[in-house]
Amino acid sequence: SKNIVITIDGPAGAGKSSVARGVAKRLGLSYLDTGALYRAIAYTLDKAAIPPVEGESLSATLRDLSVALASGRVFVDGKDVTDLIRNPLVDSLASKYSALPSVRARLLDIQREQVLGGGLVADGRDMGTVVFPLAPLKIFLTASEEVRARRRFDELVSRGQVDVDFDSVLEDIKTRDRSDRERACSPLVEAPDSVVLDSSSLSVDQVVDRIVSLAEGAR
Ligand code: C5P
Repeated sequence: SKNIVITIDGPAGAGKSSVARGVAKRLGLSYLDTGALYRAIAYTLDKAAIPPVEGESLSATLRDLSVALASGRVFVDGKDVTDLIRNPLVDSLASKYSALPSVRARLLDIQREQVLGGGLVADGRDMGTVVFPLAPLKIFLTASEEVRARRRFDELVSRGQVDVDFDSVLEDIKTRDRSDRERACSPLVEAPDSVVLDSSSLSVDQVVDRIVSLAEGAR
């Protein structure tokens, strides 16, 4: 059906967003980038000087702010933050704030509501385990740490960041994955019914082809 949900979870740099975009395009579905929601909220809380700990100031701020997605852009309190959240600082902020149960709870509805617009390809860390547990096709996309760090490094360089070095990108990836895998609330973990794909030696198109044929079988 047109309302199919395909989930793609996995560690940083596995290629989730390129693959999810590609699959969405091929199947005529929309793409839901849940990392952008965590990044947007982390960026906003940090700017507001709300530290990443549970408490009244965090709850009150989460209660009062608004988060919205429209045409691939993310808005917090009406401000388009899309271009402010793709950098190493926000990588690390997102991973700190995303460990907090109240932050995750705050973003649950907005993620699930996206299905009302039709089928989608959702990428993140807990799409198949928590947000869309009934999805008929769940992918867990991985790649070796070196490959993932290399991709992230190339991406930063192509965005014009000049002050990056490979070893610190590799360290950041390791730290972020460890914290995503070890947190108590919605950790990064393979859903038992997921298909695990290792993209270390595959191109984006090859991974997309594989998922599209799995989706054709799942319909
Ligand atoms: O996917 P992306 O790198 O944009 O995600 C940034 C961070 O947001 C991740 O390292 C993770 O801590 C958090 N995240 C999450 N759950 C999701 C998506 C992202 O915890 N569904």
